[in-house]
Amino acid sequence: MDKIRITGGQRLDGAIPISGAKNAALPLMIASLLTDETLTLANVPRLSDVSALSRILSNHGVDRSIAGKRIGQSAETGQTIALTARQIVDTCAPYELVSTMRASFWVIAPILARMGEARVSLPGGCAIGTRPVDLLLMALERLGAEIEIENGYAIARAPRGLKGAEIVFPKVTVGGTHTALMAAVLAQGTTVIENAAREPEVTDLAACLTKMGAKIEGAGTSRIVVTGVARLGGAHHAVLPDRIETGTYAMAVAMTGGDVLLEGARADLLQSALDVLVKAGVEVSSTNEGIRVRRNGQPLEAVDVETDPFPGFPTDLQAQFMALMTKARGTSRIRETIFENRFMHVQELARLGAKIRLEGDCAHVEGVAKLTGAPVMATDLRASVSLVIAGLAAEGETTINRVYHLDRGFEALEAKLTRCGAQVERLSG
Ligand code: UD1
Repeated sequence: MDKIRITGGQRLDGAIPISGAKNAALPLMIASLLTDETLTLANVPRLSDVSALSRILSNHGVDRSIAGKRIGQSAETGQTIALTARQIVDTCAPYELVSTMRASFWVIAPILARMGEARVSLPGGCAIGTRPVDLLLMALERLGAEIEIENGYAIARAPRGLKGAEIVFPKVTVGGTHTALMAAVLAQGTTVIENAAREPEVTDLAACLTKMGAKIEGAGTSRIVVTGVARLGGAHHAVLPDRIETGTYAMAVAMTGGDVLLEGARADLLQSALDVLVKAGVEVSSTNEGIRVRRNGQPLEAVDVETDPFPGFPTDLQAQFMALMTKARGTSRIRETIFENRFMHVQELARLGAKIRLEGDCAHVEGVAKLTGAPVMATDLRASVSLVIAGLAAEGETTINRVYHLDRGFEALEAKLTRCGAQVERLSG
């Protein structure tokens, strides 16, 4: 298993290109199942989650072609992928494929909408706690599907097609909103989704579905209205920039000090996190090319945060922010309200010298003068990258094991950091 070795203590200076958002690319790729025409997606990041989803889609009969490099493109420019689901040859997504990535469960919606039946393995456990799919299934039931759970599979049937309805989510769910949208676009009549997720990735999916011929109003608000259409066609869509990658590198610069332009990043996608960084003493400015993040000697101040659905502070930046706060002046309280058990990084940060006390869903992070390098273990995607950030600011060497978690969500991480002066290398093993 590969490891990453970081020799800490370098400032970050330069530019980092921001990739297309993993969490938008995945549902967009899944949307290709809704049409027999070609959906072409640009700015798709090169990530192992994208490859895993490609395998799942090809099992359903989706053809894929990847455009070659073009003049002026670097290896870090996202890829352009054309997906064509001329015919869905298999309505079953088996355990072996779905268990590698939770989001693949979302294929249930387009397959059901197009074929009247879908059989998808339940995703199973995950390092950040139980992540049920009850609300996704509830949404499909509201649209008229009959759901059965059998031998670890969710079987959804709607032989006479789905029918528009009102879906009220008792809590905000991104996957639930994606699922409801993808099912409703081909349902007969009107669907109203209440308490919908307002995450930019939902808006991006809705924008792409609209290009494919869907009728959607209110995406980006908590009430989305979908008027079903009989069929969807092909489209061309560029994946929006990754706000979690943006926030991660912004926090890395905040932690090490330096001056970095996050190329292609959009401040409107993560305003709440940028506001928190400014409160902590970091200079953040938006330019035509992206977001510039600077800290030149100013002290880091402790700031309290609470994770929330968009536009609140994202749970996917909680671990990285905690790493940052380990070196702030004073004590910061970080509350996780979205996922239980999303504090796996606490023990590992402690190995680097961080002082963190857990109390239920709240972490009290007391800033320390210095962190020192140590071997640590990556436990999930966002936790792993919080260890990278901490390692960049720690004295000496930090080795991060199980980096396959990072490869799921961060494109060309070592290259992007190295070009800004960090000492990061991958050790194959
Ligand atoms: C997506 C993101 C993930 C992010 C999360 C919250 C992708 C691929 N993943 O995950 O990176 O951390 O949004 O912003 O986009 N819930 C239920 N029942 C359900 C579904 C969800 O109780 O049927 C709960 C979850 O346990 C959690 C909360 O709802 O407590 C939010 O989860 P959700 O927004 O659905 O997360 P994902 O879509 O899985």
